[in-house]
Amino acid sequence: MCGIVAYVGGGRALPVLLEGLKRLEYRGYDSAGVAVTSLNEGDVGATSVCRAVGRVSVLEDRLDAGGGDGFDGHLGIAHTRWATHGKVTEANAHPHQGTAEGGANIALVHNGTIENYAALRKLLEKKGHAFTSETDTEVLAKLVAELYDPDNEHALETAVQSALREVTGAYAIAVTCDAEPFTLVAARKGSPLIVGIADGGYVVASDGSAIVSHTSRAVTLDDYQVVRLSAGPANTSGSDKAWAAPLHTTTIDNVKVTHEVTELELELEQIELGGYEHFMLKEIMEQPDSVRTCLRGRVDTRDGRIVLGGLNALSRELVRAKRFILTGQGTAYHAGLIGEYLFEDLAKVPARAVYASEFRYRNPIIEDGSVIVPISQSGETADTLAALQEAKDRGALSLGCVNVVGSTMARETDAGVYLRVGPEIGVASTKAFVGQVAVLTMLALYMGRRRVLAHSSVEDFLTHLDRVPDHIAAIVQQSDEIKQRTADVVDRENWLFLGRGYNYPVALEGALKLKEISYIHAEGMPAAEMKHGPIALIDEGMPVVFIATRGSQYDKVVSNIEEVKARGGRILAVATEGDTDIERYADAVFPVPDVPEPLQPLLTVIPLQLLSYHAAVLRGHDVDKPRNLAKSVTVE
Ligand code: M6R
Repeated sequence: MCGIVAYVGGGRALPVLLEGLKRLEYRGYDSAGVAVTSLNEGDVGATSVCRAVGRVSVLEDRLDAGGGDGFDGHLGIAHTRWATHGKVTEANAHPHQGTAEGGANIALVHNGTIENYAALRKLLEKKGHAFTSETDTEVLAKLVAELYDPDNEHALETAVQSALREVTGAYAIAVTCDAEPFTLVAARKGSPLIVGIADGGYVVASDGSAIVSHTSRAVTLDDYQVVRLSAGPANTSGSDKAWAAPLHTTTIDNVKVTHEVTELELELEQIELGGYEHFMLKEIMEQPDSVRTCLRGRVDTRDGRIVLGGLNALSRELVRAKRFILTGQGTAYHAGLIGEYLFEDLAKVPARAVYASEFRYRNPIIEDGSVIVPISQSGETADTLAALQEAKDRGALSLGCVNVVGSTMARETDAGVYLRVGPEIGVASTKAFVGQVAVLTMLALYMGRRRVLAHSSVEDFLTHLDRVPDHIAAIVQQSDEIKQRTADVVDRENWLFLGRGYNYPVALEGALKLKEISYIHAEGMPAAEMKHGPIALIDEGMPVVFIATRGSQYDKVVSNIEEVKARGGRILAVATEGDTDIERYADAVFPVPDVPEPLQPLLTVIPLQLLSYHAAVLRGHDVDKPRNLAKSVTVE
């Protein structure tokens, strides 16, 4: 949800900014912009700004058309936007600017939402600031300008600290001032921001993907922290080499804080397409490996046990826990629903999946022995973070099920199990979902073994779980076949996805996947629910996707298939390999290997991911950057 990249150092800023914007584009892509500060003789500090509606490539074309004049400086900030306040227009694109008394120009990029922006805007207008956009960000830029006092030794840093004490809401910001051409100031609260420590300079970004090609050494800012970064090219501080002063970190109250330098756990090849047409396809196809990595060292088939190092300190509390609250949004919520079945079925512990956005505002009851499990790929989803905080404040123990290492959620939980599926770039979540379900399965078995399950049944599950990566490898081989079958029905605008038991949340996930990237209207629901209303929708040729694998409710699902068939619906079925009966009813069958019911979601979702991918491509959509969406939703 908006991407920020900023640079100060010995090299030219613009190439670093543009490369970073392209890497961060998945976070928001309705408009983009850069501001670069000049160091040219006679022009030191002049700030050039370029903004454009559309993708980063449009901004790049515009910069090219201008011949790069004014953009060869060594300090710059850049932004790719997902609109929250104000329409998608050039005027609303970042950077935004403000002018201080005395003429200093402030440029600022922002990710997050300033909640009290309307009141601040009125105040600033009274003081003579003229606004050119509808955004909350411009308010922040003008507030920094208003509070800028050139007589302060570190005027920009001080003005940013003062401004942030006035605002409520969430922010990650990077700020420059033409009067301080070697200084970049950045800060965060509620939205992620990382400072990469490169050779002779600093790269600041919303996530590691915009940093990793420059350095792997980084500092992750905490909430309410402000960092001052000073650097420059040769001959700008009496030195004949590029220079960089040590980074200076404070709170917004100007209390000095020490920072920890860590290594980014990210390889460049993980964030590149590697020959695939889209990140979504790459991420679907790499699931045999990502699930293998997720399970590695944790599924001990020899001793028949689950080893989760991250839980050692809390294992007794978890085993004694009385209730689990599994929370997340979108795909992560669907994983939570599967967790609900897994925890109750395998560990015999009460569990409820709840939308984080609902949980946080409903005055939830947290009894003694409650554990909240925030589920998230990014670890930064605003609603999930707020639900976590609410449950913690009411005394719940917290256990993260998160992918991004070092993310806010990972740091805010008492313990956790990382997904370890690698970076997910495609906006449609695929490998993270399967990673989340795999982690929840391991958690259920971990607790089940200590509460109710016999050693032999855990052993049996683990043998099957261990084979899941190979099964997924076999399923993704069906991609071409799934594409052909999808082509037969891709022109239909309304679809249903139906499943029972463990496969009911998979039906929800299949419908979400289809609608978010192909813009086809799709609904998922328990197969039995169809008869209570939605059956009225079924007409000749309407695609209805059933998850109809062998298991305790197979016969019931087959009855539901017959009901749809009788009304002319077109049946696409995910079924168990070797089930020839199903072919009598289904127009297309996507087979998956036979595994115990609790493990089925790990397999049954894969054909649905491929189906939605091919549907979107066949309809000519930008699969990795669907309209109106962004990868990480850091606003409510
Ligand atoms: O980063 P998170 O897992 O917390 O994100 C939650 C949802 O925003 C996310 O799963 C969303 O629903 C995806 N676009 C679905 O593909």
